[in-house]
Amino acid sequence: MSVVILDFGSQYTRLIARRIRELRARSVILPGSAPLEAIAAEEPKAMILSGGPASVFDPGAPRPDPRVLELDIPILGICYGMQLLAEAAGGTIVDSGRRSYGADALVRADGPLFRGIEGSVPVWMSHSASVDELPPGWRTGAATDGNPNASIHSPDGRRIGVQFHPEVAHTPSGSEMMANFLERAGVLRNWDPEKVLDRLLADVRRSVGRDRVLVGVSGGVDSSALALLLARAGIDHVGVLVDHGLLRAGERDEVVEALGPLGVHLVVANAAGRFLTALRGVVDPEEKRRIIGREFIAVFRERADRLGPFRFLAQGTLYPDVIESAGESGAANIKSHHNVGGLPADLGFELLEPFRELFKDEVREIASLLGLPDAVRLRHPFPGPGLAVRILGDVTPERVEVVRRADEIFIETLRGHGVYGDAWQALAVLIPVRTVGVAGDERRFGHVIALRAVTSVDAMTADWARLPSDALDDAARRITREIPDVGRVVYDITSKPPATIEWE
Ligand code: XMP
Repeated sequence: MSVVILDFGSQYTRLIARRIRELRARSVILPGSAPLEAIAAEEPKAMILSGGPASVFDPGAPRPDPRVLELDIPILGICYGMQLLAEAAGGTIVDSGRRSYGADALVRADGPLFRGIEGSVPVWMSHSASVDELPPGWRTGAATDGNPNASIHSPDGRRIGVQFHPEVAHTPSGSEMMANFLERAGVLRNWDPEKVLDRLLADVRRSVGRDRVLVGVSGGVDSSALALLLARAGIDHVGVLVDHGLLRAGERDEVVEALGPLGVHLVVANAAGRFLTALRGVVDPEEKRRIIGREFIAVFRERADRLGPFRFLAQGTLYPDVIESAGESGAANIKSHHNVGGLPADLGFELLEPFRELFKDEVREIASLLGLPDAVRLRHPFPGPGLAVRILGDVTPERVEVVRRADEIFIETLRGHGVYGDAWQALAVLIPVRTVGVAGDERRFGHVIALRAVTSVDAMTADWARLPSDALDDAARRITREIPDVGRVVYDITSKPPATIEWE
């Protein structure tokens, strides 16, 4: 009793699954080429065909088993999936050869997906081909200014295509559209985080058995929840918190105090000197990430030799880390997140990554069930390479202190104004160029701090946070007053895409 998602290589396939999970329904992702038998085994009540980089005109374009499109269940085709549905039913497709990418709006939306959605509806487009002539008997259910066939459906409404992406956050009513689809298909909406936790516990027990696990604990919610999961599963584990000297202010002590009482065996490795030495003179962001990844593993290995043997190394890798490090075939490499892309080949451990298929807020739900205190659970995400990727250029101990203090002041200010929870992530970046200012009667020639705060659901897309100007004002005043080397504070108003959340 689930929704089968056939994956034709879209960056967004997991987001489709995620939207469905948010609507508390169960879904399974299968390759686009899955045979009918594999699909039928899931007893689907509905099916979704994902988008993908291909167009139906490409030689070798991936196509589903033809019997699949005959199944007597509702099918929603998104972007490339819509082309497949329209083509199979006898419509014609045109390819403009240009990828049209970005925000658009539905000016008419009265098809089966749009019940309860009114007015001009913002949608996210990413395609080059579109449906030109509808299959016989089909109707249009939505149009944009430039595209009369933004959504189409068969006469009985059991085949629906959308040209845009309802699964991304930039289509704000996308979840309602999905909910309409699930309702029409009679899909049960009873997905339950407690069941997911039970499954995770059962999975790690089965994968690990009586072996021992070394787990990297960074201070963030993912790795903390992971260590707790292992403790709850009764697995023989040691958590290693590598203090690389690039953590946020107070982070290390908070984690030790939160996890110890919950049964996590935690040791702290003091390795600040070693990381800073290795980073000396390195300015290239990818190089920083590689060095930090390498040092992390080296520290783990040393601990393992001392406390081992361990068969597994557990990491709190999430789905966005996987897809953005090109872990999924066809996805472009954007950054080498140290816990995915930067691992040396001769790791010496087997990897255990139970959260690989989850998104951050799902992990937060799991963490809540595991009893992780809110101070850690609701803390803004923090990158594994730490403050090093928030210092443009050379990472020196002095610069680390400047950015750490600026971050602390920014976060304290947001909390003081009661808006910490309004930002999904907030951070300070040190831009080591000097600009002219005046302090007292003196000329000051200080560095620049960029403040960045974003709203996001899953880090894959993000918008800059419209924080109250009073809060920004307080933060800027305190930073320039309390950090002598900073003469100017700017606020980053770029969304992702085109920027990323971190500056490096
Ligand atoms: P970007 O900058 O790629 O960041 O938009 C998306 C989210 O991921 C975090 N991030 C990382 N997390 N290792 C991590 O564990 C990394 O190397 C890394 N780089 C970025 C970032 O803070 C944001 O939450």
